[in-house]
Amino acid sequence: MEVDLKGRDILSIHDLSREELHHILDRAEFIKKGYLSGERIKPLEGKTLGMIFQKSSTRTRISFEVAMNQLGGHALYLNARDLQLKRGETIADTARVLSRFVDGIVIRTYSQQEVAELAQYASVPVVNGLTDLLHPCQVLSDLLTIKEKLGRLAGITLLYLGDGNNIAHSLMLGGAKAGLNVTICTPEGREPEASITHQAQKAARATGAKIELTTEPRQSIKEARVIYTDTWISMGREGEAVDIEIFKPYQVNRELLAQGHPEALVMHCLPAHRGEEITSEVIDGPQSIVFDQAENRLHLQKALLSLVL
Ligand code: CP
Ligand code: NVA
Repeated sequence: MEVDLKGRDILSIHDLSREELHHILDRAEFIKKGYLSGERIKPLEGKTLGMIFQKSSTRTRISFEVAMNQLGGHALYLNARDLQLKRGETIADTARVLSRFVDGIVIRTYSQQEVAELAQYASVPVVNGLTDLLHPCQVLSDLLTIKEKLGRLAGITLLYLGDGNNIAHSLMLGGAKAGLNVTICTPEGREPEASITHQAQKAARATGAKIELTTEPRQSIKEARVIYTDTWISMGREGEAVDIEIFKPYQVNRELLAQGHPEALVMHCLPAHRGEEITSEVIDGPQSIVFDQAENRLHLQKALLSLVL
């Protein structure tokens, strides 16, 4: 059956079928190849994307904006601080009004519930540009990057080290759908949310992916072909009293990497906190693919926008 994503909200990778996930990745490979060989397609001519940001962003904001431009459309950056939303206008009314002006909405905010509510009341597709819970566009791009580098996703093992955050959650959900084994290695007390772990483990039954949790970095790194880390303190959690010391054994450094596969790929969604979750030596070293990973946000989101808008 033909995959049709027109009008679809992209709130979580979990909402996509396996066919839809692979269709997005295939489309991204196709668009990227075409673009890099000089093709300039404009399927979104005359279309406008509204982008609501409640949190800072470099990659998400710029890659979506450039994606729209390259596809012939236009993107509006809407800092939530300047919207009536900040003065109490409801999410539902904001969704209804924006739907009369724009062809799609990207939102970066705190609560996943808010994104779901926006999608419920918007008549145009809504794309999750990061919440405290999930970051689907990042992980869709990461799956594209792993597939490009290793030729496949199924059967590969990815080890995520650090905080059980939005990236860890989306990696588990994406891995489960793609057949990629994902091990989340965190200090005690910083594990991913149990509801997401269960959701991913259930979805993984269909693909055979192993979704596992551990607190032991040195043992788990031996199995990994891909090593992924992210900030220990996510946006919006800066004020929490967290003892950074608990994360130190999970730092991706030369010594830890030496315990693993000699050609393991090192990934980070960025922004990186050099000297905390990852050392400069590793992020700038030969195993790091972090900037290819960042570039793929653009190609993947071009595919996504061309499919849903
Ligand atoms: N990785 C990512 O989403 O980066 P930004 O916060 O810069 O958008
Ligand atoms: N976990 C990080 C990801 C940033 C792209 C955060 O939420 O701040």
